[in-house]
Amino acid sequence: MARVMVTGAQGMLGVALCLAAPPSVDVVPVDINDGDLSQPGVAAKLISEHSPDAVVHCAAWTDVDGCTRDPDRAMTNNAVATELLAQACMAIGNRLVYISTDYVFPGTLGRPYREHDRVGPLNPYGESKLRGERAVARLPDHCIVRTQWLYGPAGKNFVATILRAAQSRAELRVVADEYGSPTLTTDLASALWIVAASDVTGVLHLTGQGICSWFQLARLAVREAGLTTRVCPISSADWGSVTSRPRYAPLANDRWADLGQPSLRPWQEAAAWYVRSTIGDLVARA
Ligand SMILES: NC(=O)c1ccc[n+]([C@@H]2O[C@H](COP(=O)([O-])OP(=O)(O)OC[C@H]3O[C@@H](n4cnc5c(N)ncnc54)[C@H](OP(=O)(O)O)[C@@H]3O)[C@@H](O)[C@H]2O)c1
Repeated sequence: MARVMVTGAQGMLGVALCLAAPPSVDVVPVDINDGDLSQPGVAAKLISEHSPDAVVHCAAWTDVDGCTRDPDRAMTNNAVATELLAQACMAIGNRLVYISTDYVFPGTLGRPYREHDRVGPLNPYGESKLRGERAVARLPDHCIVRTQWLYGPAGKNFVATILRAAQSRAELRVVADEYGSPTLTTDLASALWIVAASDVTGVLHLTGQGICSWFQLARLAVREAGLTTRVCPISSADWGSVTSRPRYAPLANDRWADLGQPSLRPWQEAAAWYVRSTIGDLVARA
């Protein structure tokens, strides 16, 4: 039986991944309560204690605006932690699957990014994740899975935030000039188990199918929830975030298709499923 350690196991993706584990896999979930991976010795201790065949590294500081305000903390949590984990994996020779992001790209190419397109992060979160990628790439048995715009049943996410806000407001203003591919954690989780068990190395782009703006995603979510809130498009400049974000950074999933794997669901289908299956919970918690 393969033993697979999942870091960030209590996060949005980590929870989905642990729940989707095939019966043949012995999952070792770890999170910040088991040790801060950015501290020397923590990763090495976890790896030597559990001797995993593979690690899926989901742990990260994902508060993008927080990373902009505190770039040192972003580097510590996302880059240093990943470097220490990669060193620990190198020592025992296990496989390391690292979850990365479209934020390693500047979003200026005008077409979906392929795995070998030139990177160029616009913000400290993207820089810290890219430094993590470079550490992971030194391992002989690694896969860097870049994904995008995650949402799902466990954890804070854009779709849930929109639905909660839509219940108490007549109108919502949502950014309409940033484009990507929304990705449902539960769909991604199933694909990640295939990646973990495979010998695919290098970089792999994996997202939901299709491309939309935050505004289009919000409009679909509100409609599927049966709410009448008006969703109004605004520019990212009008929103006024502290963080520069890529304007157009969908990730082309061609390599995944070339490996003979089925695409993740189209974003509209997955988002509609998520809204219909969680709206009851979201209303109860609002
Ligand atoms: N969310 C997205 O839209 C998105 C898009 C593309 C890629 N990704 C990548 O996908 C992965 C999963 O994202 P997610 O949204 O599921 O993240 P998440 O919900 O924020 O979960 C991350 C988990 O990692 C833990 N963690 C943070 N720093 C740690 C450290 N130094 N040591 C040990 N544990 C630590 C967090 O604990 P605390 O909560 O206590 O800090 C949290 O439980 C991340 O690598 C992220 O960069 C996310």
